[in-house]
Amino acid sequence: MITKPKGTSDIYGKEAKIWKYVEEIVDGVMEKYNYNYIRTPIFESTELFHRGIGDSTDIVTKETYDFTDRADRKMTLRPEGTAGVVRSFIENKMYSESLPVKCYYNGTMYRYERPQLGRDRELTQFGFEVLGTDDPISDAEVISIAVNIYKMLGLKDISVEINSLGDNESRDNYRKALLEFLEPNKDKLCDDCKERLKKNPLRILDCKIDGDGEFLKGCPTTIDYLNEDSKNRFEELKSYLDILGVKYVVNPKIVRGLDYYNHTVFEIKVDMPGLSNAQTIGAGGRYNGLVKQLGGPDTPCIGFASGISRVVLALKEQEVKLPIEDGIDVFIMYVNEEEKKYAVYLQQELRMSGFNVDMEYTGRSLKAQFKQADRLNSHFLLILNSEDLDNGEVQIKNTRTKQEDKISIEYIMYYLDEQLVDDEDEHCDCGCEHDHCTCGDDCSCHEHHR
Ligand code: HAM
Repeated sequence: MITKPKGTSDIYGKEAKIWKYVEEIVDGVMEKYNYNYIRTPIFESTELFHRGIGDSTDIVTKETYDFTDRADRKMTLRPEGTAGVVRSFIENKMYSESLPVKCYYNGTMYRYERPQLGRDRELTQFGFEVLGTDDPISDAEVISIAVNIYKMLGLKDISVEINSLGDNESRDNYRKALLEFLEPNKDKLCDDCKERLKKNPLRILDCKIDGDGEFLKGCPTTIDYLNEDSKNRFEELKSYLDILGVKYVVNPKIVRGLDYYNHTVFEIKVDMPGLSNAQTIGAGGRYNGLVKQLGGPDTPCIGFASGISRVVLALKEQEVKLPIEDGIDVFIMYVNEEEKKYAVYLQQELRMSGFNVDMEYTGRSLKAQFKQADRLNSHFLLILNSEDLDNGEVQIKNTRTKQEDKISIEYIMYYLDEQLVDDEDEHCDCGCEHDHCTCGDDCSCHEHHR
């Protein structure tokens, strides 16, 4: 049997519905905030990621899927979305449009990581970027959008951790202080970190081996090395977060694993009862130097990304009830050839009128068709028989109320409409505008309206 590659997943069935639901919520929120959808290639030239994300980062040194194409060009499957968006911003001269450019994406990324729960080699991220403003309101907006998406999904115990790396001057001063602290401890570092010490000591704080090391406990923090401008900027960000009602804590240890960040960096975690720690489900930060570094005009930017598998994991761990339709409106049943032909016609008519309809396809007995309808969780059964059809009638059964009727074919749509509305009213009186609110009082529709 050929199996899927390690670290990849087949998303199907109920799981696929949860993924789609997450993506729909993201689309809806992004539209409200006036962010435009962008699709960039899944592979780009290797150079983009080396120059963009940084030669000394784990992602670039250890985790990229690199290949040479048939014309000997060096290509890389994108490990994240920001570098591609920035490349597109420059290549398509979006900087000459009115700024800021606000865009969002949702797509697969590839990182050769050690697969584990919530860590995949093929991962799907949704993310958004704001290109062309340095105002801290955009930092606060990006953070609050992320929080709002998670809240809309019904997640609880969301914690936002923010930090500032400061501007270049602050970063340089911090780098010097960090080097002074690390040099005497050089021997305690893992082999990778010994290399990082030469190229990019900040990366050591992110190291999966040394990052939590005892000797790093007393190491200097970025906050202590912010110059006046950077400090003021960070204070402004905090005041905007307060205005937007976003609760946060300052975590001076956050430095982030990609080279392009300066000023604001942040991570968002949620409590997952079944897993030991609060897990990071999304992260982002400001990257004012990247556009210029990749050959464009000096353009300040900020963005965020979140792994959908982690969000789905959090929804499951927190047992969030999602208003996901699980079932169909109508299942059409028949026995003979004449009824089958009518079923084909009727199915199309009902579908075109907006109902979710399925019918028998595999020649099951009538008894087995009842079971199939049950598996599909069909709200109504339309049972065709030739005699009724000759009289212009069909049998219809409401599987929720158990009501059975024989009705004139021309009234089917009207009948279904009426009964669907009645049954929905009975199901949930939360008053939300959600099409199919199927849960009790703690459903996430209610969450949306709070
Ligand atoms: P990142 O921290 O590398 O940042 O990834 C962002 C999020 O993607 C993580 O918080 C996590 O939810 C998810 N993620 C990362 N790696 C994996 C994995 N192997 N499996 C599953 N999920 C994963 C970035 O990617 C930046 N581009 C974010 C950004 C946008 N910064 C500015 N703009």
